[in-house]
Amino acid sequence: MRSTLLVVGGAGYVGSAVAAALMRAGHQVLIYDNLSHGHREAVPAGADLIVGDLEDRDALDRVFRGARIDAVLHFAALIEAGESMQVPERYFRNNTANTMGLLEAMIAHNVRAMVFSSTAAVYGIPERMPIQEEDRLAPINPYGESKLIVERMLHWHNITRGLRYACLRYFNACGATSERGEDHAPESHLIPLVLRVALGKRDSIAIFGSDYETPDGTCVRDYVHVEDLAAAHVLALEALQRQEQKSADPSESRMIYNLGSGTGYSVRQVVEVARAVTGHPIPAEESPRRPGDPPVLVASAEKIKRELGWRPRHGELQTIVSSAWDWHRAHPDGYRA
Ligand SMILES: NC(=O)c1ccc[n+]([C@@H]2O[C@H](COP(=O)([O-])OP(=O)(O)OC[C@H]3O[C@@H](n4cnc5c(N)ncnc54)[C@H](O)[C@@H]3O)[C@@H](O)[C@H]2O)c1
Repeated sequence: MRSTLLVVGGAGYVGSAVAAALMRAGHQVLIYDNLSHGHREAVPAGADLIVGDLEDRDALDRVFRGARIDAVLHFAALIEAGESMQVPERYFRNNTANTMGLLEAMIAHNVRAMVFSSTAAVYGIPERMPIQEEDRLAPINPYGESKLIVERMLHWHNITRGLRYACLRYFNACGATSERGEDHAPESHLIPLVLRVALGKRDSIAIFGSDYETPDGTCVRDYVHVEDLAAAHVLALEALQRQEQKSADPSESRMIYNLGSGTGYSVRQVVEVARAVTGHPIPAEESPRRPGDPPVLVASAEKIKRELGWRPRHGELQTIVSSAWDWHRAHPDGYRA
């Protein structure tokens, strides 16, 4: 079924890759983004870009009046957990309050399906590994909390307004497609930072903590390729639409899924693979641990595999780093090159 989809934050790293996948799946895509952290060049050809801010309710109303939107995919957020400890109000304003405005506009225009970008940060310091969806939710920074509140808002809008939703809790998004890659400013993600050393744009990479109780002493994280994330969004959206067609009870359309590969890679493994892929020595400096960094964060993604048939295809670290390296080599200064 061809749908018209509003992709909020679709000029960003994950949103633009998902927008491209939605178009390949035959959907029509409208992107709404204030370009504060996104890139016009990342918007797929054939998608309409509306430059606007989520907090501008009049602009949102115009978007919903101007097209018959079937569902919203919501990626727009500030994403720096560290910064959220310095300026929490920015995170609650942009990630939480602005999402409330988006929900109000959706309800006013009778749009009742959303796929929401949530995060592993809703779990905080997990009690067990791999992390499952029903595990304790206890964020340790305002970023994670700002997302968890949105999850709860979606829950209550499902009960009171019949909003169907999927919350996708990503672990570490990574990798690139041939056309789209990671270009955050500031960049805090390990793989692009490591590759900047290989490009000669940084002298070295810092390894925060080498005395954790992990096989090589460095933190272990779950990396999920952006192309696999994109496939999961298409599946989640189509599941919501199937449920609506069956006119099933909206309470059956509350989906919460982890998106991870289920495999952890340590910081040292990432650096070593990047050395092999790039042929650059990539000097690493061992630095003290950062507060609030759990030793291991690995997802169980069994639920989405079982229920929606998601099959991540790009989970090998070598594949992830190679795809990112191809993109960064072609775009050494990011999209603005
Ligand atoms: N990148 C990751 O590893 C990761 C991990 C877990 C969850 N997530 C979540 O995925 C989503 C996308 O992350 P990303 O890495 O693509 O980030 P990104 O910064 O590349 O994309 C976010 C986009 O939202 C836009 N935006 C932000 N505030 C806006 C506003 N008020 N109005 C309109 N547009 C606005 C930005 O311009 C940007 O294009 C975020 O919600 C993030 O919390 C990302």
